[in-house]
This record gives sequence, structure tokens and C-alpha cells, in this order.
Amino acid sequence: MRLTHQLRSLHDGILVGIGTILSDDPQLTVRQWTGANPQPVVLDSQLRTPPSAKICHHPDKKCWLMTVSSERKMLGEQVDILTVDSCTRNAQRVSLEGAMRLLRERGIKSLMVEGGATVITAFLRARLADSLVLTVAPRLVGGYKAVGDLQTEGYKNQLIIDPLHSAASGKDHILWGDLQYNGNIS
Ligand SMILES: NC(=O)c1ccc[n+]([C@@H]2O[C@H](COP(=O)([O-])OP(=O)(O)OC[C@H]3O[C@@H](n4cnc5c(N)ncnc54)[C@H](OP(=O)(O)O)[C@@H]3O)[C@@H](O)[C@H]2O)c1
Repeated sequence: MRLTHQLRSLHDGILVGIGTILSDDPQLTVRQWTGANPQPVVLDSQLRTPPSAKICHHPDKKCWLMTVSSERKMLGEQVDILTVDSCTRNAQRVSLEGAMRLLRERGIKSLMVEGGATVITAFLRARLADSLVLTVAPRLVGGYKAVGDLQTEGYKNQLIIDPLHSAASGKDHILWGDLQYNGNIS
């Protein structure tokens, strides 16, 4: 948890999918570390975020909800609804490229994608992530895929983490490194 909060403090923005908001109701703030809160961003194509969500009551930032919906819901003063282009393959869903472009225009130069699996998979598939941090805890959950189908088609196109670093942190192990999308190891 402390590492997660430290990582949050090192980024301009933090992004999650609406699935994470509905299941975990996170605050996305820096609490177990010292540092500024990153700009919270939610991919929420159809504006399903409830006004009661913690993210709509952030202590010092307006949450940016990225949507393709033209509806303007009353979600409170701490929410900005931003309309983004839709995916070419799914008109009902926010385009990641469009979302990243808008974030860049709004001054977000580093973005931490905190989940969940659907959004992480989408970023990896679109080759939009530069690096990855993986925490391995000594606990078997079962039945949950952290990363879905990356459609890499063949061994040569698989995503490689290189250079790969690792460190123990209490009973957990942390792995991190840069993502190489051409299947090559240096
Ligand atoms: N262990 C961890 O560190 C961690 C961190 C975060 C979450 N989680 C877990 O992850 C689970 C939630 O993950 P999830 O996969 O169900 O949901 P998610 O990845 O948080 O959100 C998925 C939703 O994001 C929206 N979205 C908008 N644009 C998208 C795009 N271009 N590509 C992909 N998705 C887009 C879609 O809904 P719309 O089409 O309605 O927009 C999609 O259904 C929870 O159980 C949570 O506990 C774990």
C-alpha cells in the first residue's frame, strides 16, 4: 500500500476504469506517503459513476470523468465531465488514444494506470504503457486474470519487461521494468 501511494505521488495523473470505481470505490489520493495527490481520471464511457462515489468528493482536485456520452449528469462540484472520441471498434467506449491526447493537452505528462484488469489490458494492447510495476503477494486468489488477451499473435510479438528489476518488501515481491513491444531482449 505504501508503495502504491508513493507511486501515486510521483505521477501527474492517476487513471482507473469505471469497473474499479463501482467495485472498490477508491479515493485515489496519497495518504500513506508524503506528496501531492495526482489528478484523478476515470474512463467512464456511459457516465455510470454514482454521485456518492468517493472520487466525486476529492479533497483538492476535480475528478475528470472521460466519457463519450453527451449527457450532462449532476455529479457534484468536484467532477469535470470531459467528452472524448470513441473507439473506432466500439462507438460506445472512450478511445484510449483520444483520452491520452486530451490528458496531454491538459498538462498530464505522467500517468499511473492503477486498474482494473480491463483497462490495464487495453493500455497494454494499445502499446500505450511505458513501464510496469507488479506486486506479488504470498496469497493465491484464483480465478482472476490481472491481464487479459493481449492479441500479440506469436512468440515474437510478446511483451517483454526489460530491464527487469526486483526487490523484496516484507512478504511481498515487487517486479518492475520497461515494456518492450517488439519482443526483443537487450
Ligand atoms: N489489485 C489491484 O491493484 C487492483 C487495482 C484496481 C482494480 N482492481 C480490481 O479490478 C477489478 C475491476 O476491474 P475491471 O476489469 O472489472 O474494471 P476496470 O478495468 O476498472 O474498468 C473497465 C471499464 O472501463 C471502461 N472503459 C472505458 N474506456 C475503456 C477502454 N478504452 N478500454 C477498456 N475499458 C474502458 C469500460 O466501461 P464503459 O464501457 O462503461 O466505459 C470497462 O468496462 C475490481 O475487482 C478491482 O478490485 C485491482
